[in-house]
Amino acid sequence: MLNRDSMVAVLIGLLTWFTIGQVDADDGAGLVGSIRPTRSSPTDLEVTGPFPSGRTNGFIPRERLMALPLTVVTNSMDLARKAPAVYRGIPLQQLRSLLGLNVSNADTLFAVCSDGYSKEFPADYLDAFHSILILEIDGAGPEAWGRSTLTGLQMAPYYINAADFRPRADQTVLGRPEPLHFPYSVVRIEFRTAAATLDRIRLAGDASTLARQGQEIAIRECFGCHGHADFGGTLSGRPWLLIKTWAANTNYFRKYVVNPKSVQPTSKMPAFTDLEPKVLDALQAYFRELRVTNVPR
Ligand code: HEC
Repeated sequence: MLNRDSMVAVLIGLLTWFTIGQVDADDGAGLVGSIRPTRSSPTDLEVTGPFPSGRTNGFIPRERLMALPLTVVTNSMDLARKAPAVYRGIPLQQLRSLLGLNVSNADTLFAVCSDGYSKEFPADYLDAFHSILILEIDGAGPEAWGRSTLTGLQMAPYYINAADFRPRADQTVLGRPEPLHFPYSVVRIEFRTAAATLDRIRLAGDASTLARQGQEIAIRECFGCHGHADFGGTLSGRPWLLIKTWAANTNYFRKYVVNPKSVQPTSKMPAFTDLEPKVLDALQAYFRELRVTNVPR
């Protein structure tokens, strides 16, 4: 006779088997077949990537996503809503495999928002936090999500967050912990590779340690608004190499980044009041050592 604990273990085993079984039954081809060439509703999710059908972009209706086996996770503090939250949705890694892609042809994802902000999801971040494409918060769809308490922006149509986030100790750079990635008003998910994107703005092997530290902070904290070529954020209208140009002007750069309005009263960039001088040194070192000729456009 099984005792209570082993009954629970068996039940969990069965549930896991059942969920995985369902995912397998509803795999790539199904969702790939659901990628439509044109948008049919504002709630469609746009996706780009090297899909097996040969398509490289398209739109998936929200109803199609809702019909998938969904995952439920709890976050004891949702930063955009300043409240605990239960998310129901699809882990991004699972969405990738449902679209017929994998870590070798799509190791890095970018979530792009309606205002041009872009948040990167490298493979190690996804492995650590299993970020999820959220379809419902506390049982309610996007029409009920309202606005972020941080920025006042609409949360709809898609939101990405994770169950309780604990910054990884080994990802702290110059005293700055890794930030949580939680883009809202997401309209598009790009399935790309690090080699074709972030690696192109990384420094060569002979870069200084300080510049490498600056590189990590710059990618995490600046690239979402200051993209390069066809990846990263377009929100600022100031691409990466323009920021590199400004970084050569120490006085302007440091004043601007810490308090943009002190330099440009109409600036829409958020102030980075908590950047230590050492971090500003590192950011400048990164942009100084980044050789434009090494950065394919
Ligand atoms: C949330 C979006 C956002 C983030 C994150 C962000 N910026 Fe900006 N940044 C802007 C916007 C918007 C402007 C243009 C300001 C304006 O004129 O409204 C700007 C302008 C600038 C400028 C001045 C460019 C010019 O042409 O005068 C510099 C320098 C700059 N950013 C550096 C940085 C650095 C370094 C970081 C990371 C520490 C960063 N930004 C992070 C949005 C952002």
